[in-house]
Amino acid sequence: MPAHHPTYRSSYIFLIGFMGTGKSHWGRIWADRHSYCFLDLDEMIEQDERHSVVEIFEQQGEDYFRQKEAISLRNTEHLKPIIVSCGGGTACFFDNMHWMNEHGLTILLQSDPTTILRNILSEQVKRPLVKNLNEAELLFFIEKKIKERAIYYKQAHIHLFTEGLDETAIDQIILPTH
Ligand code: S3P
Repeated sequence: MPAHHPTYRSSYIFLIGFMGTGKSHWGRIWADRHSYCFLDLDEMIEQDERHSVVEIFEQQGEDYFRQKEAISLRNTEHLKPIIVSCGGGTACFFDNMHWMNEHGLTILLQSDPTTILRNILSEQVKRPLVKNLNEAELLFFIEKKIKERAIYYKQAHIHLFTEGLDETAIDQIILPTH
């Protein structure tokens, strides 16, 4: 992280970024370390709908999922202090990115496409957008989608490369307000 990195204070933190960048992994660790709540947006939707994300995509369609995602996102505010791990597409639909930036602190996790590929391959069946792709198709999809989504991702307040991240990485970024 650059030495000139500004210090932000927030009790409402959103982790955004592509699938397989470790949003939920790091979110859990950082929330625990700072005594924040932790919420995985996909899990919240799955519990609410009593169906997996894959089932929701298949049975109700992506549009339904995106609406549910936007509503669920806005229903997390009362849980502050909280770290919300968003889905890879959350930032890219409706005005979610703007809303997150207005209401809290957004942190983008970024990884190389090959790292993402490795991480996704182990849990591909849980991800409706990629579950039927072979390895070459998947890498192509990752590179293409990251470019398409860059316009949203780049709006995040803070950009972190996941290589070399550890449990203290967020200490320099947030100062818990409680
Ligand atoms: C999606 C990413 C997934 C999940 C859904 C759609 C996306 O979340 O929300 O499968 O559009 O990139 P993860 O980033 O947690 O895999």
